[in-house]
Amino acid sequence: MNTRRQFIKKIAVGTSVLSLGGVLPGFSASSYRNIIGSNERIRIAGIGVNSRGNALARGFANEKNKGCIVTDLCDVDSRATEKCIKTVQEVAGNKVRGHGDIRRMLESDNFDAVFIATPDHWHAPAAVMAMKAGKHVYLEKPTSHNPGENQVLIETEKKYGKIVQVGNQRRSWPNVAHAIKELHDGIIGDIHYGRSWYFNKRPSMGIGKSTPVPGWLNWELWQGPAPRVSYKDNVVHYDWHWVWHWGTGEALNNGMHFVDLLRWGMQLGYPSKVTSTGGRYHHQDDWETPDTQLVNFSFVNGKTMTWESQSCIRSSISGHGSGVTFYGDKGSLTIGGGNEYQVFDLDNKLVKHVDSKLVFEEGNLVNPTQSLDAYHFQNFFDAIRKGAKLNSSLTEACSSTQLMQLSNISHRIGRTLNIDHRNGSILNDKEASKLWKREYEKGWELEA
Ligand SMILES: NC(=O)c1ccc[n+]([C@@H]2O[C@H](COP(=O)([O-])OP(=O)(O)OC[C@H]3O[C@@H](n4cnc5c(N)ncnc54)[C@H](O)[C@@H]3O)[C@@H](O)[C@H]2O)c1
Repeated sequence: MNTRRQFIKKIAVGTSVLSLGGVLPGFSASSYRNIIGSNERIRIAGIGVNSRGNALARGFANEKNKGCIVTDLCDVDSRATEKCIKTVQEVAGNKVRGHGDIRRMLESDNFDAVFIATPDHWHAPAAVMAMKAGKHVYLEKPTSHNPGENQVLIETEKKYGKIVQVGNQRRSWPNVAHAIKELHDGIIGDIHYGRSWYFNKRPSMGIGKSTPVPGWLNWELWQGPAPRVSYKDNVVHYDWHWVWHWGTGEALNNGMHFVDLLRWGMQLGYPSKVTSTGGRYHHQDDWETPDTQLVNFSFVNGKTMTWESQSCIRSSISGHGSGVTFYGDKGSLTIGGGNEYQVFDLDNKLVKHVDSKLVFEEGNLVNPTQSLDAYHFQNFFDAIRKGAKLNSSLTEACSSTQLMQLSNISHRIGRTLNIDHRNGSILNDKEASKLWKREYEKGWELEA
């Protein structure tokens, strides 16, 4: 008889490919159901468990009564691992194994899935390693550091047949999903323009000093795939977001969430032109990415999307510090940062307001949506257990990630990019195409 463990082993060596909602070759529909076993526990391990990773560990541990158990945790900051082990013990009461090296942890068959909340330069490499080790993946957004890595991720997913849910959790929030359905059903008519925005007041990251690497940090492994640089004291943790070598700026930190909603609501793929303007206007420090960014995406069907971000000024549009508005020939629809939406007519009169008791905490950088994340976890479990369709599949999330990566490339070279709308690649621009991929530290090259 085929057991679930044998099934996982088969997938691990890449012999069978799971088509979501389908049945594996060699298995009858009933044995497939037994293997995926709706009652079987999902054992999950965490990679990168400082702030977002700690929140995810708490969230997954909270799903104990849905059959989820956090078994292992890995961080290159030993303090983060210890703290997260305590978090899981407090929430779920079980013992958790701590690790300092992702490669060693992935050798274990103590778990079936991983969640990844490392810095962005590690997202695709960690996900690829996990899939090769036979694990399903809950991958924090953005999917990757650069467009080339999206291709490798999708190839790896196909090759190893693993389930990958990306942390665009809004795709699972009930009222947001309902708003998108209303858009698709024509509540504001034909949509020609989608606007997205984000405001925050982030402090300066300062000028880093070269200091000895702290005893709690494995700097070699923190850098992993990124070419080596000497340690400075203002990057670990969080402020790597603003340095191109590891980070991807506000565009992929927050833009990704909102442009993903625009793409979903407007049913758009890749644009034909991307233009980004703005710059770093606040503070004189090591911050390289723009703190003020205006991006315009034009599509071949004449539709337009914009992304506006201000990282160092608190402000709002339509009463929301972050959000999206869709404009159609019959009115507009706004989704703020939370699980709610408003519909307006052409005179800006409110015609519908769908609200939620589940709160979005605007200033909470780590876990603004704890109560809502559970919906996204449940969809991941349903995909693993029953083959349910993922709400934020790797292919969809890679497209949204890529739009924001293209906007950053346009920003860095200072001109409009012409894009092949069929596949998102850059046309006729050698300088821009150099930023399609990154250089890897020798021995860390990424392959499916
Ligand atoms: N979906 C959301 O709403 C949401 C919210 C916040 C953050 N995020 C995403 O989560 C990711 C992490 O963000 P953060 O704020 O927690 O960053 P952070 O810098 O605070 O934490 C990253 C952790 O990863 C660890 N790490 C680095 N290399 C590692 C390796 N090789 N193995 C194991 N651990 C490693 C670091 O030591 C650190 O503890 C980011 O990519 C961010 O975009 C998503």
